[in-house]
Amino acid sequence: MEEPRFLFATCQVGAEATLKAEIESNWPGVRGAFSRPGFVTFKVAPEVRMAEGVELQSVFARTYGWCQGSLKGNQAQELADQFWQQLEGQQAAHLHVWQRDARMPGQDGFEPSITPLATELGHVIRAASQQAPLPLNRRAKSGQKVLDCIIVEPDQWWIGYHQANSIAARWPGGICPAVLPDYAVSRAYLKMEEALRWSRLPVKKGDRCVEIGSAPGGSCQALLDHGLQVVGIDPAEMDESLLEQPNFTHLRMRPVDMKRREFKDFQWLAVDMNVAPQYTLDSLEAIVTHDTVRIRGMIITLKLMQWELAAEIEQYVERVRSWGYQHVRLRQLSFNRQEICLVALKSRAFRRRLPGKNRKTKRGRRKSTTPAVDATDS
Ligand SMILES: C[S@@+](CC[C@H](N)C(=O)[O-])C[C@H]1O[C@@H](n2cnc3c(N)ncnc32)[C@H](O)[C@@H]1O
Repeated sequence: MEEPRFLFATCQVGAEATLKAEIESNWPGVRGAFSRPGFVTFKVAPEVRMAEGVELQSVFARTYGWCQGSLKGNQAQELADQFWQQLEGQQAAHLHVWQRDARMPGQDGFEPSITPLATELGHVIRAASQQAPLPLNRRAKSGQKVLDCIIVEPDQWWIGYHQANSIAARWPGGICPAVLPDYAVSRAYLKMEEALRWSRLPVKKGDRCVEIGSAPGGSCQALLDHGLQVVGIDPAEMDESLLEQPNFTHLRMRPVDMKRREFKDFQWLAVDMNVAPQYTLDSLEAIVTHDTVRIRGMIITLKLMQWELAAEIEQYVERVRSWGYQHVRLRQLSFNRQEICLVALKSRAFRRRLPGKNRKTKRGRRKSTTPAVDATDS
């Protein structure tokens, strides 16, 4: 009889039950198994057909892969030797070693990252390899195979592998490698930076972007750093450093206090209000369905006031699609708190063209082969 297989996933601390429910509902025959805050394994029944490079299409899994079991002990050297014994025969291009999150992002200054302990243990594992050492905690290229070691406790490691089929799967631990600059006025800088890197929205220098819920201004700073012209709408005060920026304007009001045609010159819209998702979507609908408004794409933070709101996600997506945004993707960003990021794009034609990703058509014109925003984002 065939044995069940196991998957591992890491997620935000607090999101474990939501992640389990999401996977169990989308993948019949897959059941949550061992879990710790920020780390979940799943038992996959033998009859479930999943490719080696399976894509779970999960909002809450930061990264995931095939699980090859756990190692327990106090001697890193011994565990490192066992790591290679258990993963013998796996031909991979990278080694990713990371710790599960200690806390929710933003709590007591905690931000997801590759910790010094993970780096130290990664070097021990790398040095124990009998083969040519693999690059440690570098970004994988699209499609490459990665060996994974998750430090669930310093003396309990879970091991496995995955195929880097998406931007997040290429990052060690699925953690966006953005760093908060010292001039950032809020950690929302990291959220916006991650949203831009993960979604690869085709924003370009000089584009006009409006953010609703912009104070004190971290995400506007990230947009300004990308060369955009930014208008922030928020009844609260912006940090003074923003007000000195020539490419930034603050409208100290709520969107309901504005005429909808005032949004007609923007290509991009971001929203990060501390209100329920329905209110956020109601506010957006009023703007983007107005006939003078031509917003190409949106970065929407949806606050999950209660985790149960995760059950409404499909409705949120349908609603955004009904406004003409066919390409919709969601992810709980590594820098999100109890919230998720929804990115919507009107037309595939607006996708940024990547070097080497375009090929010539028979007539010699360039044809984009970059995938839709709701497909694999390698
Ligand atoms: C999480 S904070 C935004 C953080 C901000 N994006 C940053 O980068 O620093 C939420 C903001 O939403 C604003 N807000 C709440 N309701 C609003 C509304 N109806 N219109 C505009 N802003 C609103 C609040 O004033 C608050 O500044």
